[in-house]
Amino acid sequence: MADAATTERVHELREQLHRHNYRYHVLDSPLVTDAEYDALFRELQTLEEANPDLADAGSPTQRVGAAPAPQFDEVAHPVPMLSLGNAFGEEELEAWRRRAAGMLERDDFAMVCEPKIDGLAIALTYEAGRLTRAATRGDGVRGEDVTLNVRTIKSVPLVLQAGASHPSRMEVRGEVYFPRDAFRRMNEEREDAGESLFANPRNAAAGSLRQLDPRITASRRLAIWVYQLGWAEGAETPPTHWETMQWLRELGFRVNPEIARFESTEGIATYYDRWVRERDDKNYQTDGVVVKIDRLDYQRHLGFVGREPRWAIAWKFPAERAVTRLLSIGINVGRTGALNPYAILEPVQVSGVTVKQATLHNEDDIRRKDIRVGDYVVVERAGEVIPQVVGPVAERRTGEETAFEMPTHCPACNSRVTRDEGAAAYRCVNTACPAQRYERIRHFVSQAAMDIDGLGEKLVAQLLGIHLACDLETRQVYPHLSEDLAIIRDLTDLYGLTQEHLEALERMGEKSARNLVDAIDASKQRPLPSVISGLGILHVGGETAELLARRFGSVERLMDASQEELEAVPGIGPIVAAGIASHFANEGNRSIVQRLGKAGVALAAPEGGDAAQADGPMPFEGMRFVVTGRLEGFTRSQAESFIKERGGQVSGSVSKKTSYVVVGEEPGSKREDAERLGVAILSEDELTSLAESGVVSGETADA
Ligand code: IVH
Repeated sequence: MADAATTERVHELREQLHRHNYRYHVLDSPLVTDAEYDALFRELQTLEEANPDLADAGSPTQRVGAAPAPQFDEVAHPVPMLSLGNAFGEEELEAWRRRAAGMLERDDFAMVCEPKIDGLAIALTYEAGRLTRAATRGDGVRGEDVTLNVRTIKSVPLVLQAGASHPSRMEVRGEVYFPRDAFRRMNEEREDAGESLFANPRNAAAGSLRQLDPRITASRRLAIWVYQLGWAEGAETPPTHWETMQWLRELGFRVNPEIARFESTEGIATYYDRWVRERDDKNYQTDGVVVKIDRLDYQRHLGFVGREPRWAIAWKFPAERAVTRLLSIGINVGRTGALNPYAILEPVQVSGVTVKQATLHNEDDIRRKDIRVGDYVVVERAGEVIPQVVGPVAERRTGEETAFEMPTHCPACNSRVTRDEGAAAYRCVNTACPAQRYERIRHFVSQAAMDIDGLGEKLVAQLLGIHLACDLETRQVYPHLSEDLAIIRDLTDLYGLTQEHLEALERMGEKSARNLVDAIDASKQRPLPSVISGLGILHVGGETAELLARRFGSVERLMDASQEELEAVPGIGPIVAAGIASHFANEGNRSIVQRLGKAGVALAAPEGGDAAQADGPMPFEGMRFVVTGRLEGFTRSQAESFIKERGGQVSGSVSKKTSYVVVGEEPGSKREDAERLGVAILSEDELTSLAESGVVSGETADA
């Protein structure tokens, strides 16, 4: 049992952290630096780990507490979640307002305007001031229980602000969205890992909320704007929407600061026009302005037609779409050899921006949408995201259009192209392909990897002896290699470059040559995750590189890891593991690592990683453990490290695949799960004896 002083400190820390979260995420005016916040957070974490009796799901440390769920439960909404009618233009807005005025028999009502956030509607239930459930909208009547995922969203309060008096039960509604900067970062990361990109923040947010593993949702950095009180019990609530929003903000909810109240229609059009101009500058996507009648008694009086309220309307923004000709389909060859088709378009203006190219995702997508070269196509621009081809305008076909065929040979090097089994991607198999070499070096020197300043794309091409050639039929430009012009062959040669080599290049002065040599030299000391990421292994971006660096501690150890050992790293699945194993099965790739080492690039972390201490036997290899209850000799995380260091895996819930459930004091339902599924149960002592001798000594609680 924790003593009184510890208990008090834990409560104090939790309250402080809730407060700081609120200041940061809701009020946007933090009181402490990130480092100060982290220090408080770590102090709380340490105290909670040492005192499991103080565990509390409402603690700020418990956002990602849960293990993957097998599926989402269905949830009935006590009050249906409706949609909104649309107005396209000021006249339609005025028509809506007049209808409401007619029913209310008055013309003098105030309205509230707010941005219409392009995300997903979520209903948050709070009981006694704590988040107990989060549900998606679903069909409006029934949604899905996504509580575990929504808990990972930092701007969703787990506990309401202390001091504010709140209803005993209430439901608050809002829109969960993917902030643009976080979305961009995630896509960059996926690109680095050679993975497919998300088309837009909305789809990515939806996909992230429907992850069965909350750790994935947590890594996606979603956010929320709250826009409505669903219902409340056990307290008086404000009489207007405007006051409700101010009150919700005080309770700890993130309410958009751009929300505005107007006494009459005057001002609404100005508000809307400002949004049309400024919406691209926001860190979230919007698709209109929602106009709501402020007084809630008026709202009740007006009621609904079908699934739409009469008291609110969405004044939509003009569509960011345009029609243009698809001149041809180009192919981009990525660093892993993936062939990515893209549209070469007759330049067209889409909401103020000239669009000449757009993504086409992959061949299947082109077929499904039946996009043909020569078609008139609809092009869409969603925020800062790469423009997309939505589909053809089939009515405008002349019969001259031609179906697209994926090339059988690489457009850059003419090698054979293969298709990944079960995947949409085509790949050029030639690792010496100039396009791949070029992209690999560009990736290696990029900020996400070795961060070598001053090595832009033109210079990389020049060093490789690449010049650009144009395919006269498709008008597409490809990199072509002239070996006799090359100064380097691959990324390891960067470390042999001297000032003289560089100064001999066109447009390269003495000073920039010296700076570049220094930058290359400095990159030898980059941290291990940057080096692993720089190697350009399929599916391995920054985050995965971190996991690998922590587990293996050096590139050499990673290089010799078996597929099973790789899969045993938490957060690494079979596909990523296979990508890594096959990368290092290639002699050329192994030799790159050796040459980097010879050139003086640091290939090991100073602390050596988990595996450094665990080079000994791996008695738990291939075994899966669940730890439950309070242990005597270990904290929970020490027990988990003990297992992982010996090659075991730890998961949060018991399944048929679990080898052992390690049970301490007050184990709860996981013990019952083990008994039900016939999974062997170990005491703490039995766990240590299993590690030492490979057998379970004494009595086992085998069910
Ligand atoms: S109020 C009775 N306010 O738009 C419906 N909705 O098209 C009340 N949305 O399902 C909704 N921003 O998911 C409201 N500021 C806002 C909104 C908003 C986005 C979404 C919401 C709703 C959909 C309706």
